Amino acid sequence: MAVPTPSVDPASSSEPTIVVRGGSPLHGEVTVPGAKNSVLKLMAATLLADGTFTFTNVPAIADVAIMSELLAAIGVTTAVGDAGTITLVNDGRLVPVAPYELVEQIRASINVLGPLLGRCGTVRLSLPGGDDFGSRPIDMHLKGLEQMGATFEIRHGYVEAHADRLHGVDITFEFPSVGATENILTAAVYAKGTTVIDNAAREPEISDLCNLLTSMGADIEGIGTSTLVVHGVEVGTLRAADHRTVTDRIQAATYIAAVAVSGGEIVLRGARADHMEVLLRRFRDMGLTIVEQPDGLAVFAERRLHSIDVATLPYPGIATDYKPLIVTMLSVADGVGIVTENLYPGRFRYVEELHRLGADISTDGHHAVVRGRPSLSGARVKAPDIRAGAALVVAGLAADGETTITGVHHIDRGYDDLVGRLVALGAQVARR
Ligand code: UD1
Repeated sequence: MAVPTPSVDPASSSEPTIVVRGGSPLHGEVTVPGAKNSVLKLMAATLLADGTFTFTNVPAIADVAIMSELLAAIGVTTAVGDAGTITLVNDGRLVPVAPYELVEQIRASINVLGPLLGRCGTVRLSLPGGDDFGSRPIDMHLKGLEQMGATFEIRHGYVEAHADRLHGVDITFEFPSVGATENILTAAVYAKGTTVIDNAAREPEISDLCNLLTSMGADIEGIGTSTLVVHGVEVGTLRAADHRTVTDRIQAATYIAAVAVSGGEIVLRGARADHMEVLLRRFRDMGLTIVEQPDGLAVFAERRLHSIDVATLPYPGIATDYKPLIVTMLSVADGVGIVTENLYPGRFRYVEELHRLGADISTDGHHAVVRGRPSLSGARVKAPDIRAGAALVVAGLAADGETTITGVHHIDRGYDDLVGRLVALGAQVARR
């Protein structure tokens, strides 16, 4: 593959970049890795039981390493094996403190709260960080756990939680928060009595967590629905288990977006059509042909995309994490598309970067109006977060000339070898 030397700003030439040259149709096959938003939660659930857990289909991403460090600080050690396998050992000597230096790096660190509170009865957790795309409070997590008998104090940037033994209650969420559902679930497995979570989030990653918890001996009904019923077991009685991480629907969508703007045909091994139904329907509305196969999807991009209107919603709706990809696809589609963000009002920051590539997008509050152009034009852009970073790589595939993406560390947090997989499909992409 020949990617010309990029014209870089000497002041930042030591920073890693991804360099993309658009215009090559994609062909071939890639295997979609396991989901970041699942594996981090599976890892946090190892705090619940002593023993050795082996997880397979684990993506090679920076957030797994950060979560390993956080768990190591608490008392669970992780060893990375071959071919997407990790082994975590919990010897029962836990220090229920999650320090700022680690928690501030990933939002999923909040997921240690439920297991530690249920198991240890006390937790000291730094308030979480994560992607910088808007306010991300944890009030629903705390309110639910409070209903179960926990008390909280927020002091010096830390949440200090206590509970002698949590008890089961009926909790109705005002909004199906992914993180709050997970924290209540992992606390409820050791609560006294039955916890009912109504209006629970039902993302495939939550079902994946429920399936691990069930293998560990938890008693959960309603998996995959918006009402989860958890019958608590005695504290300390869950056991370690092995688990295969669910495939990443967001990474799968990224490769679909890549072929959609480049043209060509690809096969995505492991992609789960049943986890992406609404998205695939809308992608078909845009003109893609998507054929389900026994172990994945074949995607044919034979013509220019048509514009559509899209609104993000909790699962099974169109995930907010797909949105930068959709906005990028609309940037080169035929017509005008309106994208409405219903989860994170501030999550349009990457639009400025797409402007640098010549996209015609105007935003107003939580709406974006995208007027499609025949193509974009390559430029230097900066990834502001994980998903927007990947979308900028896709935008580079739709651009004339060369696009250089900085802020690559964001992409590395959630994408397992995005560059290598795109190269395998024939894209002109390189890491510098
Ligand atoms: C998870 C995903 C993230 C995805 C999001 C929505 C992980 C690590 N991250 O984030 O990639 O974009 O789901 O699909 O899995 N909210 C509150 N109070 C709360 C909790 C949430 O107001 O206590 C609000 C948030 O600010 C946000 C919305 O609810 O506006 C969605 O949050 P939530 O579903 O909890 O997402 P996360 O678990 O943080």
